[in-house]
Amino acid sequence: MLTQLVNEGQTKLEVPKLERFQTRAGDYAPSLAPVFYNPHMELCRDISVSVVQVLADELGGIRVCDPLAGVGVRGLRYAKEVKGVTRVVVNDRSQKAFELAKRNVELNGLASLVEVRNEDANVLLWENRGRFDFIDIDPFGSPAPFIDAACAALARKGTLAITATDTAPLSGTHVKACLRRYSARPLKTEYCHELGIRILIGFVQRVAGRHELALAPVLVHATRHYFRGYLRARKGARAANELLAQQGYVSHCNACGRRRFTQGVAVELPSTCECGDRFVHAGPLWLGRLMDRTFINAVAGNLVRSNFKFGQKELVLLNQCAEEADGPPTFYDVHELAGRTGVSPPKIVELIPKFRKQGYFFSRTHFSGTGFRTDAPMDEIVEIFKRA
Ligand SMILES: C[S@@+](CC[C@H](N)C(=O)[O-])C[C@H]1O[C@@H](n2cnc3c(N)ncnc32)[C@H](O)[C@@H]1O
Ligand SMILES: [Zn+2]
Repeated sequence: MLTQLVNEGQTKLEVPKLERFQTRAGDYAPSLAPVFYNPHMELCRDISVSVVQVLADELGGIRVCDPLAGVGVRGLRYAKEVKGVTRVVVNDRSQKAFELAKRNVELNGLASLVEVRNEDANVLLWENRGRFDFIDIDPFGSPAPFIDAACAALARKGTLAITATDTAPLSGTHVKACLRRYSARPLKTEYCHELGIRILIGFVQRVAGRHELALAPVLVHATRHYFRGYLRARKGARAANELLAQQGYVSHCNACGRRRFTQGVAVELPSTCECGDRFVHAGPLWLGRLMDRTFINAVAGNLVRSNFKFGQKELVLLNQCAEEADGPPTFYDVHELAGRTGVSPPKIVELIPKFRKQGYFFSRTHFSGTGFRTDAPMDEIVEIFKRA
């Protein structure tokens, strides 16, 4: 395998020669390489490193597992760049990935801290019940096949990080695949990515419930072609029950854009909207908070300390997430609403004081540059739009 050296964060990596795996469009296709490494995921990994640092500071030391590691970039970056890491297990079932990850451990002088394994991720995780404070599930496509074993391997105050690149099923393009993988119905709407993340979280929480584990999201983002979420664990049947009570359904009216939220699973859902049209439904999914503002601010603060500058993509994203953290589920799209109300689309900055003056929550959303989140009722939103 032809390789090259790259630097990511403070970590050196030997990776497959990138230019050999270019697509016709001139982009790089990591899945074609003998060992997976995607330079476009650096933003996601920078944020992960900062998340792990915040957790390590809180716990006073952290044990990390990167069970689907490719060249080992995530596990190695945690070992090299986070203070307080006491153990890292990097694993991939591919022999080539295993060999390359071992060379990368040597390259960074991390042999005393990082153990490299060559097993099926689920076998590794089940063999390590309760032994990891941070588990990073970063697979091809869906994380669903790894959630049960990851819950088993999570320590009492552990955090589970998940990536999903099967955004098409989760966002309603392939309904049957979503039903199959996540036992939930997705819905194609202007906020379908948020619904997709909520379906993913709902699924993870239901699996965690079997382990008497409550997994609450503290940070999620939809970026490029993937969803990413960080969920913190609390042990106990009561905590899990409390969390599961916040699952339910989103009912959406395609005619007027109104939404209804119904908590509970196997419950009766509203069939007819106030406008007379029929509701369509998505779920079961997580209806609670997606973000914890205090946690996100700590992650952002940590990035600033590691020399990230205001305006850098990672910080912009985290600030957007913090801004929308206290908002209700689902957001509205300026163009969609303008079309419906027959007005020209107002600028979001102009809308901010109009909503806030009346005491409503109002924020932008990282999910869409033309989206906004508010708890104002639909009739009020339409009124404000018409006056804007
Ligand atoms: C998306 S890549 C990982 C990317 C890596 N985390 C990164 O940030 O570059 C998924 C990896 O999981 C490995 N893999 C897939 N299924 C696996 C399994 N059941 N057990 C262990 N490794 C597996 C693949 O060989 C591949 O290297
Ligand atoms: Zn309606």
